[in-house]
Amino acid sequence: MIAVRTLSKRHGDRVVLEGVSADVARGETIAVVGPSGGGKSTLLRCLNYLEPFDAGTVEIAGVTLRPGMDGRDRETLRKLRCAVGMVFQQFNLFPHLTAIENITLAPRLVRGLAAVEATRRGAALLERVGLADRAGAYPHELSGGQQQRVAIARALAQEPEVMLFDEPTSALDPEMRDDVMEVIRDLAGGGMTMLVVTHEMHFAHDVASRVWVIDRGTIVEDGSPQQVVDAPQSAVAREFFARLRRTTT
Ligand SMILES: Nc1ncnc2c1ncn2[C@@H]1O[C@H](COP(=O)(O)OP(=O)(O)OP(=O)(O)O)[C@@H](O)[C@H]1O
Ligand SMILES: [Mg+2]
Repeated sequence: MIAVRTLSKRHGDRVVLEGVSADVARGETIAVVGPSGGGKSTLLRCLNYLEPFDAGTVEIAGVTLRPGMDGRDRETLRKLRCAVGMVFQQFNLFPHLTAIENITLAPRLVRGLAAVEATRRGAALLERVGLADRAGAYPHELSGGQQQRVAIARALAQEPEVMLFDEPTSALDPEMRDDVMEVIRDLAGGGMTMLVVTHEMHFAHDVASRVWVIDRGTIVEDGSPQQVVDAPQSAVAREFFARLRRTTT
């Protein structure tokens, strides 16, 4: 589903990703962890071409991304936007639209779905994220956890083949995190292919099929949760998990 080959990305003189290569099979859930500034967000943003990169290729959901894509690649990027959904730490809902309007906007505009059908599907998605009764609420009328679940439903409305989550619960109070992680866990169980940047140990250990540790622009560990979380090989991974255990227990 995803094949990354020697992906490199610089910001000025700073190398942010350095020759990253990795594969993700359909239905895998990858927990992406590692120290701040290591390049986790940048990798996700490159996979969705929210950021161009300098070298290498990305194949994702049947779409091939290369350096220097531009307006001539609009059809490729349109396909990419439909095939890959992304959820951010800050939910980025449209503040002037209700929950259901946030969810139905892209299907109506991008895929030309009729309003009635888009609303029917949107209602089903709201039900799936546990918010069937909040369709008419505006973002400011929803808690952070509820807003994030609307953001997930909005991404799912495009019927993506891959979902990318960048610290989906970091901006939330602890009591709201579980509801959001529950939705993400359900998606993993349902066979969605996902990359999830997270500091939730439980998720990395018990839900993810694989864990990547990213440090200084490279994937320094890639293995099962048992290998990477329980028996990390690198000093950076050992320190990262030790610190996480200290702060979450
Ligand atoms: N627009 C930018 N201009 C310059 N440098 C940038 C830019 N965006 C990111 N960087 C740098 O790229 C590196 C990787 O950043 P990135 O946000 O991908 O890290 P991260 O692993 O997601 O960190 P965190 O855990 O704090 O979210 C950092 O050193 C950051 O300062
Ligand atoms: Mg980040």
